[in-house]
Amino acid sequence: MKLIRVENYEEMSSSAARLVEQQILDNSRSVLGLATGSTPLGLYEQLIRGVHERHISYKQVQTISLDEYCGLSADHPNSYRYFMNGHLFQHIDIQLDNTHIPDGTASPVEAECQRYEALIDRIGPPHLQILGLGTNGHIGFNEPGTPEASVTHCVKLEESTRKSNVRFFSDLDSVPMHAITMGIQSILKSEQILVLASGKKKAPAVKRFLAGGVSEDFPVSFLWKHPHVTLIVDKEAYSLAA
Ligand code: F6R
Repeated sequence: MKLIRVENYEEMSSSAARLVEQQILDNSRSVLGLATGSTPLGLYEQLIRGVHERHISYKQVQTISLDEYCGLSADHPNSYRYFMNGHLFQHIDIQLDNTHIPDGTASPVEAECQRYEALIDRIGPPHLQILGLGTNGHIGFNEPGTPEASVTHCVKLEESTRKSNVRFFSDLDSVPMHAITMGIQSILKSEQILVLASGKKKAPAVKRFLAGGVSEDFPVSFLWKHPHVTLIVDKEAYSLAA
């Protein structure tokens, strides 16, 4: 694994943006795996600036998002589709048809999971998968205990995950109980994986991840099995590992 240590959130975001943009310059038909949450927001701002300032084009790029809440439609302000449209897709020259996110309202949910995994195999796997890091080591919504062989599936969200995401909702009861997520196996199919971690809250998870060892109760640790992982951490996130 390649470790890139940077000073702060801004540097993490711009350093990640350079890697994403290089991927697109190398292959204009790149498939990007995308995460939501607070961590990649700065990266997405940088990518938007890159369209204007560095003439990066997303016309032929496809994206595959990691996850979506069950029960929230695309136009729900807390859905990950809404998030991705608002924070990235609407501001770059990507074709919306080329942006893929699980449908949180599809029924039965199992069929949607199968459709999504087949889509990953058909148009992907991503050349570059971006991941944030949950404080409990989750990646996507793969909570501790998720098996390595897991593909896209429906999960019951842990209380800790719902609590850390309540900041986007009016109250805890409004945070969905379930989500559709790419599995560990789906994520490991990617050619390259870029993990981003910023801030003190992530320091214990970064410390445990960097200590090595693969364990089902700490999902990000499965990334040790992948040959091309880059972790970008800022000073605070690295503070306990140092
Ligand atoms: C988001 C996702 C999650 C987040 C993780 C960190 O699509 O899959 O795994 O990356 O919960 O969230 P933030 O970035 O909000 O700290």
